[in-house]
Amino acid sequence: MNWNPRSNLSRRSLLVGGAAFLAAGAMIGRVSAAAQAGTAIRLIAKPARVPLVGGHRDATDVWAYNGSVPGPELRFRQGQRLRIAVENQLAEETTVHWHGVRTPNAMDGVPFLTQKPIAPGETFAYEFDLPDAGTFWYHPHHRSFEQVGRGLYGPLIVEELEPIQVDRDVTWVLDDWRLLPDARIRDDFGGFMDMSHAGRIGNTVTINGRVPQAFSVRSGERLRLRLVNAANARIFGLQFEGHRSKVIALDGQPVEPHEPENRRIVLGPAQRADLVIDMTGAPGATHAVFDRFSQGSAYKLVDLAYSAEPPIRAEPLDAPLRLADNPLPELDLAAAERHEVAFGGGMMGGGMMEGMMSETMSGGTMEGMMGGGMMEGMMGGMSDGKIWTINGVSMIGHLDTPFLTLRRGGSHVLAMRNSTSFHHPIHFHGHAFRVLSRNGEPTVHREWRDTVLMAPDERVEIAFVADNPGDWMIHCHILEHLAAGMMGTIRI
Ligand code: C2O
Ligand code: CU
Repeated sequence: MNWNPRSNLSRRSLLVGGAAFLAAGAMIGRVSAAAQAGTAIRLIAKPARVPLVGGHRDATDVWAYNGSVPGPELRFRQGQRLRIAVENQLAEETTVHWHGVRTPNAMDGVPFLTQKPIAPGETFAYEFDLPDAGTFWYHPHHRSFEQVGRGLYGPLIVEELEPIQVDRDVTWVLDDWRLLPDARIRDDFGGFMDMSHAGRIGNTVTINGRVPQAFSVRSGERLRLRLVNAANARIFGLQFEGHRSKVIALDGQPVEPHEPENRRIVLGPAQRADLVIDMTGAPGATHAVFDRFSQGSAYKLVDLAYSAEPPIRAEPLDAPLRLADNPLPELDLAAAERHEVAFGGGMMGGGMMEGMMSETMSGGTMEGMMGGGMMEGMMGGMSDGKIWTINGVSMIGHLDTPFLTLRRGGSHVLAMRNSTSFHHPIHFHGHAFRVLSRNGEPTVHREWRDTVLMAPDERVEIAFVADNPGDWMIHCHILEHLAAGMMGTIRI
């Protein structure tokens, strides 16, 4: 079966200010801000049924935005104002977080910290400017281990005022599902094993909400590929056989164009990478894309299937790849204040006892509130669900007291240490930060990011200017770790 992204388009219809709008050539349903002339976009979170697995297999019941997984690809221009009304047609509360966008605090979508959760039947209007161009995404921040896990997420693309020259601009939202043989989602969210180990890893990987067969390309074309990892817990390590790719942006922020280390693009949960790939294969050729993050479990993600048409150009396009930087505040490292942040807990780690001994669950209904499924699987001492820690504290329920208060306008270094036996993609809200060093070694690209993947026992230094006032979350984006305590608040 040929998996042509364009063929999906006619099946999607999106509400844009009440009118159906479809853009030609889109990978997934696109909502273009330019097309809606001032009316707010409506995003409706509700149950839906989608053909994740495809073929003659059954469709899957999911929770989705506007009936599709991923939700509509929201497209804006840098500097535009985003206005989106989110309507909750789920049977439980929700919110939307605009991951990686430097929003005002009140628009950040964190229940109880920045807004009241949106009750079933209610609508919340999000409205803010988009200072940065890049590849971002949106998802709920309430019981996200289940809401995101059931399909609530979508890409948010902010186009540069002067985009680089490519033949196609394509988004791949990657996800990982735990499906039963009949394609239903296995209903075991919040299980103790997942919470205390590597998170809810699934058995079925999708690109843009479909199990991919082949991705059609044409010889000679230049692709900009925007990768988004929307999985709860799976870390991807993508290799494009027979092709060289250049990374041009990470988490939406431009970086000096470079080949990825070991020709492998590593994406922790919530991370993004923008690649430029020249389709240098011959007409009719097929090349595999593998996920080789973990040695033991490599698998073929998809085939690049070349059409038989002749190459569209003889030589690869000779055009610049460097994107213009976003208007991020410059660091003053000489004057920066330094703060230690330690991530602990989990199974197989020294911090485990800490979590078991900590005081009883404080109640509350945020990320930390988990369904009965978790409680059943509990072992005695960890029955309060406090499994992971930041600076010794396992945060369950409402986020209230910040563990750090930063001087506004100053430069700050977070010296982070992963004292556990697991990877953690650590996300900080409301800012972009530079990754300065890993285990004491300066990073090659000093890349800006909003989510940094920390390996077991790794030390990572990040730095940013605390220019966005408010209470901001910092947390692990393995959503089971988030729910089991690995979150905290930094006040600016
Ligand atoms: Cu992508 Cu705090 O979230
Ligand atoms: Cu984690």
